[in-house]
Amino acid sequence: MAEVIDGKSVAEDVVSKVKALTSELVAKGATKPGLAVVIVGEDPASQVYVASKSRTAKECGFHSLQHTLPADTSEAQLLKIIDDLNADASIHGILVQLPLPGHIDAGKVIQTIAPEKDVDGFHFINVGKLGTGELETAFVPCTPAGSMLLIERVRGKDLSGLNAVVVGRSNIVGKPMANLLLAANCTVTIAHSRTKDLPALARTADILVAAVGRPEMVKGDWVKPGATVIDVGINRIPAPEKGEGKSRLVGDVAYAEAAKVAGAITPVPGGVGPMTIAMLMANTVASAYLAAGMKRPSF
Ligand code: GUN
Repeated sequence: MAEVIDGKSVAEDVVSKVKALTSELVAKGATKPGLAVVIVGEDPASQVYVASKSRTAKECGFHSLQHTLPADTSEAQLLKIIDDLNADASIHGILVQLPLPGHIDAGKVIQTIAPEKDVDGFHFINVGKLGTGELETAFVPCTPAGSMLLIERVRGKDLSGLNAVVVGRSNIVGKPMANLLLAANCTVTIAHSRTKDLPALARTADILVAAVGRPEMVKGDWVKPGATVIDVGINRIPAPEKGEGKSRLVGDVAYAEAAKVAGAITPVPGGVGPMTIAMLMANTVASAYLAAGMKRPSF
């Protein structure tokens, strides 16, 4: 049976380090890290994520600010809020929760965030830095950054010679994940809905990352024996066995089957999920260190 990678425990380690770094920063007389989270509209899943981000920021000792805006907020109003946050020296990280309502151009909003406060790592400057291997100064998107920490726990930092397959080509997870694996010297393939014979390709992977948003799509016989399997999916499916109208969370990997073959695997929940918020805190404290003219901490 595979080793179960405990994302909750690694995330707690990251948050503890962020707390210690925050205390050190404040002890040196610098401003405490400030994180602004902006949410537009009433999407229930987004509200849960955002509340959790704001709560963890407070736990870390940050200045935590949340803008909760109605669904009919105009693009101009949102851009003005971002401009003000860009100019606010008490704020080191700005996160606009996605998705945004259809009448707002999300791309424009993201590109308005100052790159040095873009703790989501979505601005072209940060995307470009990651793509060119400038990892020392880039902000890397939180979910792939957290996934990399989990991979490092199992495989170490240098992944030279390993084959990595990333299933999913989103800008938030698939593409940055592939770039991080490439920077760590993996041979990387990005697979997606048009890929031919995905099971055969997946079976070549020493590191298999599933980020497609399809419940239990990756089957046990897609997994190479001994592979490290990282399941980024969080899907809610009906669970009639728990009672009428009940549901449960599953990943993009058929966990029970895959765990019999893999060397190590992340569970859902309790794998990649907790890492996303932890890495947001890590990026924000790093931004505050840079703003104070201090060396950027690494995780
Ligand atoms: N929506 C889902 N994931 C994310 C994320 O990582 N950042 C933001 N801003 N919105 C999201």
